[in-house]
Amino acid sequence: MNKIDVKEKFRPQYHFSPESNWMNDPNGMVYYAGEYHLFYQHHPYGTTWGPMHWGHAVSKDLIQWDHLPIALEPDGHGDIFSGSVVVDWNDSTGFFQGASGLVAIFTHADQYPDSDRSRQRQSLAYSKDHGRTWTKYEGNPVLTEESITDFRDPKVFWHEDKNKWMMVLAAGNHVRFYSSDNLISWEFASEFGAQAGSHAGVWECPDIFKLPVAGKKDSSKWVMIVSIGNDTAFAEGSRTQYFIGEFDGISFTNDNPDDTVLWLDHGRDNYAGVTWSDIPHEDGRRLFIGWMSNWKYANETPTVGWRSAMTLPRELSLKETSDGVRLIQAPVVEIEKIRGEKRSWDQFILEPEKNVSVDVSGNLLEIIAEFELQSATEFGIKIRNSDSKETIIGYDTINEFLFVNRINSGITEFNEYFPCMHGAQLKSENNRIKLQIFVDSSSVEIFANNGQVVITDLIFPDPKSTGIELYTTNKKVKLASLAIVQLASIF
Ligand code: FRU
Repeated sequence: MNKIDVKEKFRPQYHFSPESNWMNDPNGMVYYAGEYHLFYQHHPYGTTWGPMHWGHAVSKDLIQWDHLPIALEPDGHGDIFSGSVVVDWNDSTGFFQGASGLVAIFTHADQYPDSDRSRQRQSLAYSKDHGRTWTKYEGNPVLTEESITDFRDPKVFWHEDKNKWMMVLAAGNHVRFYSSDNLISWEFASEFGAQAGSHAGVWECPDIFKLPVAGKKDSSKWVMIVSIGNDTAFAEGSRTQYFIGEFDGISFTNDNPDDTVLWLDHGRDNYAGVTWSDIPHEDGRRLFIGWMSNWKYANETPTVGWRSAMTLPRELSLKETSDGVRLIQAPVVEIEKIRGEKRSWDQFILEPEKNVSVDVSGNLLEIIAEFELQSATEFGIKIRNSDSKETIIGYDTINEFLFVNRINSGITEFNEYFPCMHGAQLKSENNRIKLQIFVDSSSVEIFANNGQVVITDLIFPDPKSTGIELYTTNKKVKLASLAIVQLASIF
C-alpha cells in the first residue's frame, strides 16, 4: 500500500522516492519471478543520512512501485551499506535446499574495536520468499581486508566463461575483483584503476557488464561504472564515470588511455547508479537506475518528511562514435505507460527577442524538441518558468555545448554549490540537436541526440512555475519539431 502524501511539495510524481525519511544509493537491484526489486540505502528514522538500512520496493514494470518493509537492519556487525543481490539459481550457497533464491551481498560498516577507524566488511543475507524476509548468513562477514579502510559496495555477477561468481568492489582509489564458487568464500583476482580515470573523490559503487556495440557485428565490450565521492576540492561533488574495455574473468583492461575520463551523466544529480541483475535473456536489456542527488548537498535539499528520489530507470547500450565506443542511455520503454495527451507543433523559426511561450499545463512532462542549427549562437528551452524563475536548457553552437542553468531555478540557497550551470560537449547530427526532456516536480532529465549525452538535475521551483519558453539569444534557429507529452502521476 502506498502511504505517500502525493501532494507534498516537490514529491516526484513518476520517479521512485521513499515513503518517508532518507534515501541514498539504489541497492540489490535484481529481477526475480516477475518482479523488479529495488532496495536502497535508507535511514528510516530521519531525513538525513544515518544508520543505514536497506529499504525495499518491488515493481512489475519499473514505473509503479510497491513499498515493502525494510529488508535489512543494522546488527552486531554494523550498519548495512550498499551492495547487490543475485539469484542463486543452482543453490551454490546451499541456502535453498536445492531450489533457487535471492542472496544479498552487502557491506557491513562499523568501527575497528577500540578505535574510531571505520571498518567495512562484506556479508551475506538470503531470502527464500522473493525478498520478503531475509536471514543474515551466520558466518558473516565473508570478505575482509584490514589494510584498506574504504572497502565496500560489492556488486556480484555470474561470469559465464569462468563458470564462477565474480565480485567487483570499491577499494579506496581502485576496484578489486574477487571470484567464488559459492558466494561464501572469495578469492582475490585482480585490481584496476589506481592510475586510471577520475580520482576527484573516493571510488564507490562499481558495476561491470558486457554489452554489444550497436552497428558492429559480433562486437561487444565490457563497461565498468565507478562512482566517485564528493571531495571538497571539486564543485561538481559526487559523480559517476565509466570505463570501456575487456574483462576476462580475472582482470579488466581499459581500452582508453589512463587520463581519459568518461562521465555517465553531465548533470549534478545521478550518483551511485548500478544495473539490475538477472534480467531474463529474452528481455536482454541492461537496466540502470541512479540516486538523483549529490553528496555536496544531499542532506540539505528543501523537502520535508522525505528526502531524495531515483533517476528514471534507463536502458544502457553502446555505440561506436568518432571518439570511440560510448555509453548511450534511454529511458525505459515502460515509460509509455504514463504517457498521456501529446501535442505537436509544426516547424517554425525562432527569432531573437521573440521568445515563444508554449501553452501547456502541468509539471509532469516529456518534451521532445529538435532544433536545426542556423545562425543562432545560443538557443534552447526554459522550463518551470515564471516571471522571475527559470531552468534553462540551452545549446551553445560555438562551443558545441549543451547545458543546464539552474542558477535561478527556484529554491537554491540551501547550499552554495546548488545554483550552477554545467553541461557537456555535444555535436549536432545532420545539423540538428535533439532533446528529450523529462520534467517532474523536482527534477529534469535530458537525453540529447538519442541518449549520447545525458544531464540529470534536481530543481526546486515553485509548483506554480509551470511555463515553457523557447528562446534564441541572437539570430535565428529553426525548431524542426516540437512535441509535448503529458505524463501521469504513478500515484
Ligand atoms: C555511496 C555510498 C557508498 C556506501 C553508502 C553508504 O553514496 O557512500 O559507498 O556504501 O553510500 O550509505
